[in-house]
Amino acid sequence: MADIVDTRTDAQAALARAAETLGRGVPVAIPTETVYGLAADATNPQAITRIYEMKGRPRFNPLICHMADLAMAEKHAVFDPLSRRIAEAFWPGPLTLILPIRPESAIHPLVRAGLDTVGIRVPSGIASRLISTFGHPLAAPSANTSGRISPTSAHHVAEDFGDKLELVLDGGPATVGLESTILKVEGETIRLLRPGGLDAADVERVIGRPVLRNDKAGATIEAPGMMASHYAPDAPVRLDASDVRPGEVLIRFGGKALAGEDSAALVLDLSPSGDLAEAATNLFGYMKQADATGARSIAFSPIPATGLGEAINDRLQRAAAPRG
Ligand code: TXA
Ligand code: MG
Repeated sequence: MADIVDTRTDAQAALARAAETLGRGVPVAIPTETVYGLAADATNPQAITRIYEMKGRPRFNPLICHMADLAMAEKHAVFDPLSRRIAEAFWPGPLTLILPIRPESAIHPLVRAGLDTVGIRVPSGIASRLISTFGHPLAAPSANTSGRISPTSAHHVAEDFGDKLELVLDGGPATVGLESTILKVEGETIRLLRPGGLDAADVERVIGRPVLRNDKAGATIEAPGMMASHYAPDAPVRLDASDVRPGEVLIRFGGKALAGEDSAALVLDLSPSGDLAEAATNLFGYMKQADATGARSIAFSPIPATGLGEAINDRLQRAAAPRG
């Protein structure tokens, strides 16, 4: 089992240990505000290969590169004025921008799965301090076996990887709880490649331009990792439930009781007060809790599709999609 080192007790010691491990080309799981990431030196091909192997991730699915700040990001990618405005407004935060790679960037092509673009994010908190300490960008997909739910706690990560992982930095529960929103600027157009922890409506409000949603075909081409079945718990998922069947787990929203709750295996409420940000924070942990009961299925009551509800409903669709 991986060593779990708490960054809240002695941040300096945790950062030093993580930087030493990364320096040996060994991946380290790290907390970010969205979900935990499996991080490795983005300039070291052996380290990147280990990430793909540990996750069982197809090599055609590129990794997000994490930078300490916008200045570091500008050394590796070309920012058009609109992308720069978005970065200045929302970094550090739950936002990834897809940008053309600079030819002189030391980011290894394996990170980009051979594409001429790179996905870049500036996370907040301890992750950003680690990148500064280490000195290289960190490639980091979510720290879960490919196809499974992204981890929102150090404990989830350690459980998933077992002996395959050396070190997890523990920064407490992820505050956002959903993966980053992925945007790509094309000319004057802002395209949403993945709804996530940054509400696309906030981007529209601050930047003063619409954010275009992808059709299904476009999504497959642009964000190669966005398969229909993804983020899946073990138990089958039933959406828009209006009642609960005996032995099911119910994950509901807004304090609204459903018929049949008395014979449910477990009833969880993503946000009794109907707060979508709170629901996002709880979503993945509750799916894992539901699985832990061994229930035969998980029923979800409807969740509004506004604000962060867009990303929540995206993840629920994927959790419920036929398994490949
Ligand atoms: O919040 C997050 O984004 C977390 C934390 C750890 O930062 N990371 C994460 O990474 O969710 P991952 O690997 O699970 O998802 C990355 C997504 C994939 O769908 C991938 O295809 C897409 O980003 N992506 C990465 N680079 C890309 C590129 N150059 N062009 C298009 N899509 C890209
Ligand atoms: Mg992932």
